[in-house]
This record gives sequence, structure tokens and C-alpha cells, in this order.
Amino acid sequence: MSGEPQTAASDSSSGAEQNPYGGASAPGGPKRVRTRHFQNAKRDGIKITGLTSYDQLTARIFDEAGIDFLLVGDSAGNNVFGHETTLPVTVDELIPLARAVAGAVTRAFVIADMPFGSYENGPEDALHTAVRFMKETGAHAVKLEGGERSYKQIRRIVQAGIPVMAHIGYTPQSEHGLGGHVIQGRGEGVQQLLADAKAVQDAGAFAVVLEMVPADAARQVTELLDIPTISVGAGPHTDGQLLVWTDWAGLTIGRVPKFVKQYANLAGILSDAAKEWRADVEAGSYPNSEHSYE
Ligand code: KIV
Repeated sequence: MSGEPQTAASDSSSGAEQNPYGGASAPGGPKRVRTRHFQNAKRDGIKITGLTSYDQLTARIFDEAGIDFLLVGDSAGNNVFGHETTLPVTVDELIPLARAVAGAVTRAFVIADMPFGSYENGPEDALHTAVRFMKETGAHAVKLEGGERSYKQIRRIVQAGIPVMAHIGYTPQSEHGLGGHVIQGRGEGVQQLLADAKAVQDAGAFAVVLEMVPADAARQVTELLDIPTISVGAGPHTDGQLLVWTDWAGLTIGRVPKFVKQYANLAGILSDAAKEWRADVEAGSYPNSEHSYE
């Protein structure tokens, strides 16, 4: 939602936050990003930005940088807890992370990811999980995976007044069912992708993540829907972009997906710092008088 500041008149919702655009530092940008700002951004062709965050330090930095939304993703299963997949991570493990992120931001919209096993059992289970995230963390919305198969769950949560971000295409919680990291929506698969997209919009989702689908399929979904589409490896023709922050910042150990552009090399920076500090300690040059009390 960065770009040219718009006139107050362009925000039909009016009220205290008159201009829905601009990063945190843009004059007239929203004090707090709300679901209507996602909708307005799509309407006006302003790109939406999102990163994952699992802690208060990164949340503060990304919020101040003007990132529009922070996802407390179940990718914490890999990136915080060291699992090979997102499957083992639990609601009880994600709640403290979501609380830390939500407590650190002033502008960004915070979305808590509903982990595997916390909503598949049906709409009431899904609502129970969503209510826990909203009451116990201060997050502003929840996200869950699945298109047509998650219609009832999304609908029930939205009916309770909780905004839902949907997630279709490649859905990591179904990794084994999908046969690995397989691009979705290719060839005839685009029909299922479009049906899933329509289903989550009809269920009341305010936005939908498209993960690992061909750029042209994502374009078709974006043109079909009234709600904004957010790409994670779905190319440029969507209303916004989302990346896993540890991939994007070069902290992830091992393979990162082809669609990730690395904007930093944090692993290298931290490794160099650790080696330098170890050498200083071993050589007796740290701490010196500057870092000691009288
Ligand atoms: O958990 C996560 O980080 C996600 C994104 C990859 C969409 O679900």
C-alpha cells in the first residue's frame, strides 16, 4: 500500500484514517491498517506488502518500515521450532509468538495462522481456534488453508466477526497429500484454483494468499475476484506480495524456493559477527575497559 499519497476523498470509508495509502512514513497513511485498506488498495491498484514475523524485534522493524501486514505463520514450525514441515506446530506454540508480534506493532495488520489440526474437524472447531487467537494474542485476523474444503470454516469464523485471510494453491499443511512441493493450478488445475478462489470469497474471506501457482493462473484469479490476492510464489499479477522473512533476509539455512529474492544475507552477517566475537574473547581483547564497570 505504498505509492502516491491519495486525497482523503479517495477513501470512501472516511473517518479518522482518511488516507488508506502509504508506508508508515507516508504523510496521511493509515495509523492502523484495517481490512478496508486491503479492499481499497485493490480498487486503486496499490500493491499490498506482507512479511512473516514470529517475534517482537522483527515485528517492530517491519512495522516501522511500512510493511502492511505481518503473518505469524505456521512456518514458525520450520523457522522457529526446527521441524521439517509445518505439520507439528500447535496453537499453544503459536499463541505466544502472535502475542509478541501483535504487541509490538502500531500500524501493521497482524494475522495469526491457524495450524494443521486446529480447524479441519469442522466450523465449530475452527471458530474455537480463531477465538483463542483473537482473545489471547491481540491479532487482527486469522488465516487458514484450503479453498472449497474450508468454505464452512471460513464462513463460521467470519460470521463471528473475525476477518479471515484464505490460502489456496500450494498449501503446506497438505504437503503429503499433494505429493511434496508441487506447483498448483497448472494446465487444467487452473479450474480447481478458480473454484477455490470463488469459494473463499463467497465464504467471506477479506483476502486470499495464492502460493506457488503459475503467474498466469494468479492473474486469472486476481481478475475473477473482488477481494485482494496476495502472492507467495504466484508472480506479479496479484494485488500484493508476501514472503517468509527468514528466506527473504537470507537467514534460512539450506534451500529457499525459486520465487524468493534475498534482500540481505543475515546468516553471513551473524556468522561473521559470532566468529569475530569468539576470536576477540579467545584473544583477551573483549571485554576491555570500555566494556567493564569501574
Ligand atoms: O506460514 C506461512 O509462512 C505461510 C505463508 C507461506 C503463506 O502460510
